[in-house]
Amino acid sequence: MRDDNDDVDHIPGERGLPLINRTFEYLRDPFGTDKRTLARYGSIARTRMFGRTVVMLGSADHASRLLLDRERTLSNRFGWGHFFGELLSNGLMLRDFDEHRLHRGIMQVAFRSSARAAYHEEIDRHFAHTVARWAGERMPMQFYPAIRNALIEQAGSAFLGIPPGPHVEFTARCFTAVRDAMMAVIRVELPGTAWRRGMIGRRKLAAFLRAEIPARRRGHGRDLFSQLCHAEDENGERFDDDAVVDHMIFLLFAAHDTTSSALTTLIDELTRAPELQERAAQECLSLPRLGFEQLEQLEFVDRCFREAIRLQPPVNYILRRTTSACPIGGHLLPERTPATLIVHAVHHDPELWTDPLRFDPDRFAPERAEDRGHPHAWVPFGGGAHRCIGAEFSRQQVKVFCWHLLRRFRIERVREGATVWRQLPIPMPKDGLPVRLVAR
Ligand code: HEM
Repeated sequence: MRDDNDDVDHIPGERGLPLINRTFEYLRDPFGTDKRTLARYGSIARTRMFGRTVVMLGSADHASRLLLDRERTLSNRFGWGHFFGELLSNGLMLRDFDEHRLHRGIMQVAFRSSARAAYHEEIDRHFAHTVARWAGERMPMQFYPAIRNALIEQAGSAFLGIPPGPHVEFTARCFTAVRDAMMAVIRVELPGTAWRRGMIGRRKLAAFLRAEIPARRRGHGRDLFSQLCHAEDENGERFDDDAVVDHMIFLLFAAHDTTSSALTTLIDELTRAPELQERAAQECLSLPRLGFEQLEQLEFVDRCFREAIRLQPPVNYILRRTTSACPIGGHLLPERTPATLIVHAVHHDPELWTDPLRFDPDRFAPERAEDRGHPHAWVPFGGGAHRCIGAEFSRQQVKVFCWHLLRRFRIERVREGATVWRQLPIPMPKDGLPVRLVAR
């Protein structure tokens, strides 16, 4: 990877302290640092952290430019690669242009509606079991670790086709190590470092998946791993073993930490607004069963989910790097310049959203449709060629989970005051979000 361009002094901004620049400011308070920088310099600003100078983009217009990239001058591989490169190498999100298109076309087969309908039974069975188990838990329980475990187990069954037990625990340990390595400041494999643990996690996971591939290619499993082993685009293109391994590792990461974070924000907000929780619960209670075909009927639950990931997006930074000189927002970014879309800045823009820091699911109601004010006002799943391939899958998971949980329990807050979040790499509550489930 050729070095990043560092010469963007023509863009307003600041480098921070010598050597460490603004790295620790970001680690301490990422969103506050973004907001202060954008407020001071405008919606396009220069900053420096983690050894990298980055151009920050903080408006819906800039979002359109970065996500649509009609000129094909913005690379994902070199954008995300700085943080994810070796840990998630060759995942779909780290591929560019024609190669990306080819791989996405094959992977799409495993995410189309008929494939999701096939996963539905497993998702439903799994969440029914999870919620029944929670009924026997001592209260209060910590919601975040509980939902994360539930989604890991589900990834075991729906993604990997393996039952709960030592193999699922092994894969969970491996990709937790990978996730924890992402924000590492030391990025060489020195003993005792998070980076080394992450790289070991990746190698173990890769070896485990690779050993399983021949059996998956022979079998007819309905899980995502088996689907990827068989997936074929309209030209008959298929993934080789290396691609299956790289894509599965990326998918395991992309899928469940994002959805755990989204559901935790959602439950946090519903415990702060009991009347909205009751509305969502009544909608769930009005449906005696929830087959794949009934999912669209959970309209208010869907609005709550959309609002949760507007207010607190699980993926707050969308990274790119220019492949050649690229005009954005009246400035010319030279070749090899890193550029980052600051998603929360777009989602909290008072020009686009009424009272943007308030949890208000009805802003998505057809009569208000605040998300329609700009084609890229609402971008929790990105947009354009790299738009999240699992967006519909995660909506499906969230609805099925809420249907089981809210029909059975009222969820109460245990602590007074606002929840404190650790923001990077993905928002998670520092205290695990203790809640009390009260049977209806
Ligand atoms: C609330 C949950 C989720 C959020 C907020 C989320 C967010 C995102 C975002 C913002 C991107 C675009 C990144 C970019 O443009 O560079 C993305 C891409 C991606 N996501 Fe998700 N995601 C979620 C759930 C999932 C799930 C459940 C899966 C898989 C089952 C998944 C798989 C992927 C993949 C494979 C990509 C790369 C797509 C491409 O590059 O073509 N995500 N996601």
